[in-house]
Amino acid sequence: MVYEIFDSSDALNEEDKKLVNEARAITSNAYAPYSNFFVGAAALLTNGQIIKGSNQENASYPVGTCAERVLLGTAAVMYAGMPIKTMAISYDNKNGESNHPISPCGMCRQALKEFEDRTGNYMRLILTGKTGKVIILDKAVSLLPLSFGSADLK
Ligand code: THU
Repeated sequence: MVYEIFDSSDALNEEDKKLVNEARAITSNAYAPYSNFFVGAAALLTNGQIIKGSNQENASYPVGTCAERVLLGTAAVMYAGMPIKTMAISYDNKNGESNHPISPCGMCRQALKEFEDRTGNYMRLILTGKTGKVIILDKAVSLLPLSFGSADLK
């Protein structure tokens, strides 16, 4: 896995910093009354558009959807086939701190991998809290070694 760790988002280039700020800001649109864990994701598409997502929970808990998969669905509908260059993921934890990076859950890793496959393009991932260290990965699939995919169904 290829990744870099930065001491804070101040160390990022302007394009990445903007995306991080968008991800942090969109946590306010999360619907997370059950976990109180408000996740935001912002992605820069290869056509220059920025798409956002936030987690959307439900009283029937398993129905809830993570920010990353909300974003992927939105991107696929609004800009069909358009690859993602970079996705930033942040969170606001109403029960605690938001001072370290979080990493996508297992289900989202599977969804991210298939989005890379179907668009034929790896996406960079920027993982961050509201403050603290930032991790940048060169591709999402590196979070899912030995993964299952569409090729296995042939
Ligand atoms: N969650 C996300 O939206 N993305 C992640 O990367 C981790 C977890 C959501 C799911 C749930 O609504 C809440 O955060 C607590 O797990």
